[in-house]
Amino acid sequence: MQMVEMIRKKRDGREHTPEELAWLVQGITGGRLPDYQVAAWCMAVYFQGMSPREARSLTLEMAASGEQLDLSALPQPVIDKHSSGGVGDKTSLVLAPLIAAAGVPVCKMSGRGLGHTGGTIDKLESIPGFQVELSREKFIRQAQAIGVALTAQSEELCPADKILYALRDATGTVESIPLIAASIMSKKLAGGAGGFVLDVKVGNGAFMKDLEEAKTLAQLMVAIGKGAGKKTVAVLTNMDQPLGRAAGNALEVREAIAFLRGEAAPDLLEVTLALGAQMLKLAGAVAGMEEGREKLNGLLYSGRGLEVFAKWVAAQGGDPRVVERPEMLPGAPVVRPVLSPGGGFVARMATDLLGRVVANLGAGRKEKEDIIDPVVGLVFHKKPGESVAPGEPLAEVHARTEEQAAEAGRAVLQAIKVTPEPSFPQPLIYGYIV
Ligand code: URA
Repeated sequence: MQMVEMIRKKRDGREHTPEELAWLVQGITGGRLPDYQVAAWCMAVYFQGMSPREARSLTLEMAASGEQLDLSALPQPVIDKHSSGGVGDKTSLVLAPLIAAAGVPVCKMSGRGLGHTGGTIDKLESIPGFQVELSREKFIRQAQAIGVALTAQSEELCPADKILYALRDATGTVESIPLIAASIMSKKLAGGAGGFVLDVKVGNGAFMKDLEEAKTLAQLMVAIGKGAGKKTVAVLTNMDQPLGRAAGNALEVREAIAFLRGEAAPDLLEVTLALGAQMLKLAGAVAGMEEGREKLNGLLYSGRGLEVFAKWVAAQGGDPRVVERPEMLPGAPVVRPVLSPGGGFVARMATDLLGRVVANLGAGRKEKEDIIDPVVGLVFHKKPGESVAPGEPLAEVHARTEEQAAEAGRAVLQAIKVTPEPSFPQPLIYGYIV
């Protein structure tokens, strides 16, 4: 086969065979294909798209390009959750212990990633002593013993995706729905779970700004998951506001602990229960969504979820006393309120801008090698629909320096719009793709 033929075929809108896509992925992983040709092929895919059959073949080949985890020693099926990413999304931190408390094992590899904050792994690392690099043996043994284990994504997982993503990032071809779907689902499939709940975020703080586009991505990912023989469901959730009240690594762990103590922000609770109920349903632990929500509520308000969280922290080398004393988490040297100049109701939050503020404070990575600052971020005192008096805090900035806090405060005021009249609340869950 010739790479130039592959490029011509896609350029002209024709469909690749599974054998061609296998050849392509093996060539990428083996370093046999020049970057410029692979990049040209990505651009052809960007314009011509892919059939669901092609997207599935590409995904399966990418999943098989490196290590594939074997979770067969655990009670089946293990259900994994994936989020397409948003500001303040700490659902994995609270769902992992709740799902484990419901008797369904959580055994998850998680990426560090680029973004406004780190990934779940970076957030957990803000707990003093918490180890995120587990050997395969410890990973499985821990999940067998306490029901939950989380480790950093290995370098050997989906090497084809690493190479392809870097080329897409450098050639303006990340925003291709079949390439996004293949990238996400290949890593999920290689992670070894038997089913997936995909949280596809939609809104001004999400990768997908438009509901129809998000639906198309969700439908394709669900089709790929099912085509690979896995139970797969997508939930379309609102990212026109940060999720919960905190964005930042240690700040989100603090909010997760408060949540598990029963002090849940209503939006975080609603999204967590919807995702968690789907996970329990896919695992066969409950018959339907209502039963799933009730079960999770019981585990939350009885403190069982918090108990499992403490065991999880201890099992991975962290100090479990952090659940009783969240002040043990590292804190920022400068904490300043952002006061509302006028009164009224919060109408709109420019979530993408708020995400950039959090990243600029140092909570996220722009480059893979960047070091994350665990202590910085934002706490939102007011969310859409809530009333605010003149001079009342809209938010709180956690920063390293006064200058950074002042700059972030000015940006927060730009990002949060207050109007005299309340506006209609947006739904938090737009729908399910099953
Ligand atoms: N997240 C991924 O893992 N891959 C993409 O292509 C986009 C978002």
